[in-house]
Amino acid sequence: MILAAGRGTRMRSDLPKALHRVAGVPMVLSLLKAAKTLRPERVVVVAGYRFGDVKAALDGHATVVEQKPLLGSGHAVAAATKALKNFKGSVAVLYCDTPLLAGPTLETLVRGHREGSTACTLLSVELDRPTGYGRILRASDGSVARIVEENDATAAQKAIREINVGCYVFDGPKLFAALSQVQRNPKKKEYYLTDAIEILAREGRVEAVVTPDKDAALGVNTQGDLARIEELMEKRLLEAWMEKGVRIRNPHTVTIDADVEIGEGTLVQPNTVIEEGSRIGKNCVIGPFARIRGGSRIADGAVIGNFVEVVRSTIGAGTQVKHLSYLGDAKVGAGVNVGCGTITANFDGKAKHATVIRDKARLGSGTVLIAPVTVGRGAVTAAGAVITKGKNVPDGATVAGVPAKLLTKSKKKG
Ligand code: UD1
Ligand code: MG
Repeated sequence: MILAAGRGTRMRSDLPKALHRVAGVPMVLSLLKAAKTLRPERVVVVAGYRFGDVKAALDGHATVVEQKPLLGSGHAVAAATKALKNFKGSVAVLYCDTPLLAGPTLETLVRGHREGSTACTLLSVELDRPTGYGRILRASDGSVARIVEENDATAAQKAIREINVGCYVFDGPKLFAALSQVQRNPKKKEYYLTDAIEILAREGRVEAVVTPDKDAALGVNTQGDLARIEELMEKRLLEAWMEKGVRIRNPHTVTIDADVEIGEGTLVQPNTVIEEGSRIGKNCVIGPFARIRGGSRIADGAVIGNFVEVVRSTIGAGTQVKHLSYLGDAKVGAGVNVGCGTITANFDGKAKHATVIRDKARLGSGTVLIAPVTVGRGAVTAAGAVITKGKNVPDGATVAGVPAKLLTKSKKKG
């Protein structure tokens, strides 16, 4: 179960917290991906604030239940009671605002839960600066006695460095029974999921698995948290690509979103941005100062050079787009040379249109392609040519001028 109903008031944004993107991916989808590594029988997402938007983002990949009104994390879990009515198994509860929490950490927690015979096993971590998080209070036998929230903690409790990550595995029926006993927190007037822990500890046993991955615990509550956590995520993504044989120069200037593919031997030059949903082949050169946006497919050996933006476009093998270009909604074949400053004028003020450039075409510097338009195989456009809408360039032809016209070879006299 993923709790994603909160507005995220501290973000000071109209966007539900669950939909804020970290490395290009809405947080709730990062958590969904982590949850799926556990191969659960089903995933239930609790949404509330802007319910429809969160549900749409999940795109049918989870059962979405509505929490209304929003009365705290305990109340959110209780909102899923009906959806899990006859479910007798274990329920993992995750918060949507811990995007660095990944599969392996969850697997360790689930393993810990299976080994012990507890009503709940929760994930904790020791932080040097635990401010803002719920603190774990241990019983004399080392089990968890309860969790005290920052707001309610005494000075002595605030000194505790072991905090609640917000990731738990419960015995399902026991969880719902305990929740029905939780009272509203007198200060925040909310039903805290963390208060169910105390009830479960009293009636049975609660254990904590302490994760060594301190980053996994970090929760996004403010824009500052978001920026810091995203930076950590981006560093991890860059490291992972370098391990897979992608060469990245000046990695601290390069941004690569999650949900991207890059082939071995590709060189990513400084100040390059590769956005969510891009697929790049092997042995390409990308950048410096390139922006590859969603829906881009770049085949092996292609060169996307400085100040080039590619969006929703396919670039064929070995094609070169070396300087100062915008390619949007374009289908570019293999072995094409796109001259400096070539622009696809893909938007007519109302709709976006496609440009097709077939294999081995050569576009002169400053070519403007007013979509929809096709440049044929092996065709040539002269520098500064403006190819107007629908005036397709035949295979092998050469065009020049504004608007571009076919160049017919001048007949020799005599
Ligand atoms: C919570 C924990 C705290 C823990 C911290 C870790 C509680 C009471 N406290 O605090 O112990 O250290 O996370 O990051 O759980 N939500 C709903 N409906 C609501 C309220 C919240 O679905 O009515 C969801 C939010 O969308 C979020 C999660 O519950 O995913 C946690 O809520 P949040 O307000 O971020 O709690 P924290 O103050 O961070
Ligand atoms: Mg939080």
